[in-house]
Amino acid sequence: MALHIEQNVDLKPYNTFHVKAHARHLVRIKSIGDLHEVMAQPIFRESKNFILGGGSNVVFKNDFDGLILKSEAKEMEIVKETDDDVHIKVESGMVWHDLVTVCLENNWGGIENLSLIPGTVGAAPIQNIGAYGVEVKNVLVNVDGIMLNSGNARSLNNADCKFSYRESIFKHALEKIFFISSVTLSMTKKKHKINSSYEALKTQLNHQHIASPTIHDVARTVVEIRRSKLPDPTEIGNAGSFFKNPVVTSDQAEKLKKSFPTIPVYSFENQTFKVPAGWLIEQCGWKGKRVDRVGVHDRQALVIVNHGEANGAEIFLLSEQILTDVKMKFGLTLTREVNMIE
Ligand code: FAD
Ligand code: EPU
Repeated sequence: MALHIEQNVDLKPYNTFHVKAHARHLVRIKSIGDLHEVMAQPIFRESKNFILGGGSNVVFKNDFDGLILKSEAKEMEIVKETDDDVHIKVESGMVWHDLVTVCLENNWGGIENLSLIPGTVGAAPIQNIGAYGVEVKNVLVNVDGIMLNSGNARSLNNADCKFSYRESIFKHALEKIFFISSVTLSMTKKKHKINSSYEALKTQLNHQHIASPTIHDVARTVVEIRRSKLPDPTEIGNAGSFFKNPVVTSDQAEKLKKSFPTIPVYSFENQTFKVPAGWLIEQCGWKGKRVDRVGVHDRQALVIVNHGEANGAEIFLLSEQILTDVKMKFGLTLTREVNMIE
C-alpha cells in the first residue's frame, strides 16, 4: 500500500506541551521501508523535514511549514544472549516506558532508574536521557539509522555517539540529518548493577526500610518520586526540565558559595560542579508563578507549564525572562534542554 502523507495536521496531540500548531505534511514511519519510500518522493526534496517521536521535548514555536517524519516503528528483538546478559534491538517508535516495563517483566536490569521518562526509544540517545543516577549511555551498545541526505544506513557504537550530560553527536554533527531507526541496549539477566546512590532515591528506599533493593524496588520508587514532583503531561502541558543544570568550574563554584551560602552544588565529572537550575529559578521568585497562560510548576521550578491554550511563542518568551533573571542574579547562563522548533 502506498505511503499516506497527511496534510495540514494538528500537532496538539503529538506534543506534551499541548501547543496548537499545524504541520503542512506528516508521514508515519512504521519501517525503514517507509522511510526510503518517502525519501524517494518529490515532497521530501522540496520540503524541510523534522523527525518527531513522542513530542515530549519539543516546543513548536509556529506552524511547521514542512514534512514531519513521525517515528512509529515499534518492534523489538533479542540479538544476543548469554547466561548473564541480553542485547535487545528496539525500533525507534517504541514508547520508552513500555520498554522499561518489558525489561522489568523479564527481570532484565539496566534501565529501571529511567522509569516513566516520556517519549520514544529513538529519542533516548539524542540527549542521552538520564534520571536518578543513570543515563542511557550506561547500557547503550549501538544506534542504527539512515542518513537523510543520502539514504545510506549508518551504525554508531557507544563511543561514536559522544555522549555526555544531555548531549550526543545527534545534537551536533548528525543533527537533523540522521533518522534513528533502532537502538541496541545491553541488559543484565542476573547480578544486576543496582544504582541507588541518587540522594532522593536513597532516602525514599531508606524510608521503606529497603536495604538491598531489587530492580523492581528501584523502578517503583523512581515512579513514586517522579509522580510526587513532576507534572503529568496528560493533566498539564509540559516537557519536563526546560533547562539543563549548569556545569561550573571549581573556582566558579567557590565564588557562588561565597555570594550565596545556601546554594546546592554537586560534584560532577573532571573537577566540575553541577548547580541545580531548579534552585536558581526558585531563588529568582519564579516557582509557582503564572504569567497569563504559562507558568512555572509549583513543585519543580525547572518545569515550565502550559496552563491552557498557550502557544509556543508564549512558552519561549517565559523561558527568555527566566534566563535573563538567572543571568542577572547569579551570572550563569542557562541552556534550554527543550528543542525549540521553528
Ligand atoms: P521528541 O520530543 O519527539 O523529540 C526530541 C528530539 O529528538 C527532537 O530533536 C527530535 O527531532 C529528535 N528525535 C526524536 N526521535 C528521533 C529519531 N528516531 N531519530 C532522530 N531524531 C529523533 N528527559 C530526561 O533525560 N530525563 C528525565 O527525567 C525526563 N523527564 C521528563 C519528564 C516529563 C514530564 C517530560 C514531559 C519530559 C521529560 N524528559 C526527560 C524529556 C523527554 O522525555 C526526553 O527528552 C525524551 O527522550 C524525548 O522523547 P520524544 O520521543 O518525546 O522526543
Ligand atoms: N531544586 C530546588 N527547587 C526546585 C527544584 C529543584 O531547589 O524547584 C533543587 C533541590 O536542591 C534539589 C535539586 O534541585 O535537591 C535537584 O532536584 P531534582 O532531584 O528534582 O533534579 P533536577 O536537577 O531538578 C534532574 C533532571 C531531571 C531528572 C532528575 C532526576 C536535568 C535538567 N533534569 O532534575 O530530568 O528526572 O534530575 O535525576 O538534568 C528532564 O530532563 O526533563 C528531567 C526531568
